[in-house]
Amino acid sequence: MPTTCVVGILWGDEGKGKVIDYLAAEADFVVRYGGGHNAGHTLILPSGKLVLHLVPSGIVHTHTRNVIGNGVVVDPVHLCGEIESLRGRGIAVELGRNLLLSERAHVILEAHRRQDHWAESVRSGGRIGTTGRGIGPAYADRCSRIGLRLGDLLDEARLRRGVQVIAEQKNAWFEPVGLEPLQVDAVVEQLLAAGAKLRAGIVDTGGVLRRAFADGKRVLLEGAQGCLLDLEHGTYPFVTSSHASTGGAFSGTGLPPHVMRVVGIAKAYATRVGEGPFPTELNNETGERLRAAGKEYGSTTGRPRRCGWFDTVAVRYSGAVSGASELVLTNLDVLRGFAPLRLAVAYRLPDGTRTTDLPAFDLDRAVPEFEDLPGFDVDVSEVRRFEDLPANARNYVQAIERLTGLPIRTISVGPGRNQVVLR
Ligand code: IMP
Repeated sequence: MPTTCVVGILWGDEGKGKVIDYLAAEADFVVRYGGGHNAGHTLILPSGKLVLHLVPSGIVHTHTRNVIGNGVVVDPVHLCGEIESLRGRGIAVELGRNLLLSERAHVILEAHRRQDHWAESVRSGGRIGTTGRGIGPAYADRCSRIGLRLGDLLDEARLRRGVQVIAEQKNAWFEPVGLEPLQVDAVVEQLLAAGAKLRAGIVDTGGVLRRAFADGKRVLLEGAQGCLLDLEHGTYPFVTSSHASTGGAFSGTGLPPHVMRVVGIAKAYATRVGEGPFPTELNNETGERLRAAGKEYGSTTGRPRRCGWFDTVAVRYSGAVSGASELVLTNLDVLRGFAPLRLAVAYRLPDGTRTTDLPAFDLDRAVPEFEDLPGFDVDVSEVRRFEDLPANARNYVQAIERLTGLPIRTISVGPGRNQVVLR
């Protein structure tokens, strides 16, 4: 199958960056299809740690072409900065050659960031806990048909008309609520400057990808965030504003729907950053130990991640929604010394019923039922063959397979490129 899509199974931060880096070695194209610089994909390279927010992880491989698809929202100022910092690390980024940007990708403005912070500050009934990067407001403007697209940055007259439309719409309510209004000239000037830097990369990426697909090229689709942050299928309203699950892979790239291999990435335990329901969350010393052992701090915002047990109810749901045919299990090494290892197998709902399905409402009131397994207290970070893992670690992996119905052939046991157990 020439196309593979890598998706996070829960709320993001599953270690997709490492898996994509690993799979990118075999890919001709690596494509981001959704989200923006709210994402943070961490790679551990021989030269040290690298966190990418917008540029696809294939950029570190000399032979891959990297695409920011139309489903991504792009902050052009951030993108210029990220490209510069990659170049500063000695990574060749050549717009038009190894980095292509969809002319249809929508643009994040400073005004969107201000709006994001404002919306959080006035929201009754609890903040979403967004990354504050303007993601939601940029997607909202796309739906309201007042958004700007990267291709607009290449034509001053068109850009000015577009900025005027946004300013009319936003300033009408920005000023009354105390938000700084958009200054059309300043916005146009800033976007034109970014457009001039990015010009060589802004193309019809959908056409490029369709031709590549027809030629049998290997395309790797890099999901951002995770299935439970998907706007449609996630834990709404505590989600991001894009189609983070596999559905976004078609609408966000312009590739026609076809059969693809979907690889779900799941951590050996669960984490979440931001607000929202999390049935297996550990608000205790065990949760703090997991956070410390897994160094669970957001790679974009630095916020401490909430930690909890592996949830087979949620993973089975996301596996079905995403069409994943297998799981890659990450961070197994982190579970060293935790006992028992607990797997959520069902929820008890407020009305007393038991379910093995993920409910659309009241997930915050679902109480998980667990299956407990013995732990292992051995360093597994140097293990490379499944049969060399301690028996209790193997049992844990096999229990996840049994309860989710998804095979696990690849297990990550550390951040390094080679810290992988294959079966
Ligand atoms: P937004 O995407 O900034 O609007 O944030 C919406 C929700 O998605 C918040 O709970 C964020 O913490 C979460 N989120 C967004 N991007 C990521 C990510 O890359 N990893 C984990 N959580 C994320």
